[in-house]
Amino acid sequence: MVIRNATITDLDDVLRVEREAFGEEDEARLVDDLLKDPSAQPALSLLAFDDGDNAVGHILFTRATLDPASNMSVVILAPLAVVPGSQRQGIGGALIKQGLEALRTTGVDLVFVLGHPGYYPRYGFEPAMKHGFTPTYAIPEKDADAWMVQALRAGALEEGQGRAVCADALDKPEYWRE
Ligand SMILES: CC(C)(COP(=O)(O)OP(=O)(O)OC[C@H]1O[C@@H](n2cnc3c(N)ncnc32)[C@H](O)[C@@H]1OP(=O)(O)O)[C@@H](O)C(=O)NCCC(=O)NCCS
Repeated sequence: MVIRNATITDLDDVLRVEREAFGEEDEARLVDDLLKDPSAQPALSLLAFDDGDNAVGHILFTRATLDPASNMSVVILAPLAVVPGSQRQGIGGALIKQGLEALRTTGVDLVFVLGHPGYYPRYGFEPAMKHGFTPTYAIPEKDADAWMVQALRAGALEEGQGRAVCADALDKPEYWRE
């Protein structure tokens, strides 16, 4: 497997992976919108290829801000997609790890994700509410643990608090349901 940055010429592959993984159009549309959204930049878009050079996985991280304003650099992971025939082979995990490593080297302090609390903690995420970070849109109390954060710099979790405000294209209540 090879993971590399997705470029504009990979857009068809990116959108196909999203469609196949989720079995619907919504995430592909969201990714397309986010990639064109200035408020989401800089974004990190990675594609995973199998041994036959077919794109089989994609991950997107987009810029966010904190309210109240902070000097910290924060991003949101959404979405993560692996096509059905390639799931459970570690591709999703490899995309998360490689993405986090790249973000760390560019000075990102915090990464947020709204996702399955049984999956993302394997890659260093933990519930964000207990550190004082709330999502762009409130999520039901029963799903509170689905809102997670990871610090890429030691001490970053203790340095700020507040609401993570996503990019414009992600700023719709329907995207904020676990
Ligand atoms: C979730 C997803 C990205 C995982 O990718 P993957 O390459 O299969 O993941 P990995 O191989 O790294 O890890 C597989 C593990 O994740 C677990 N897992 C997969 N999907 C999960 C989910 N929705 N909730 C909890 N655990 C999940 C599996 O149980 C597996 O663990 P196990 O083998 O110990 O049972 C992939 O299944 C997918 O694209 N699903 C459809 C889209 C989606 O739900 N995306 C995530 C929300 S943004």
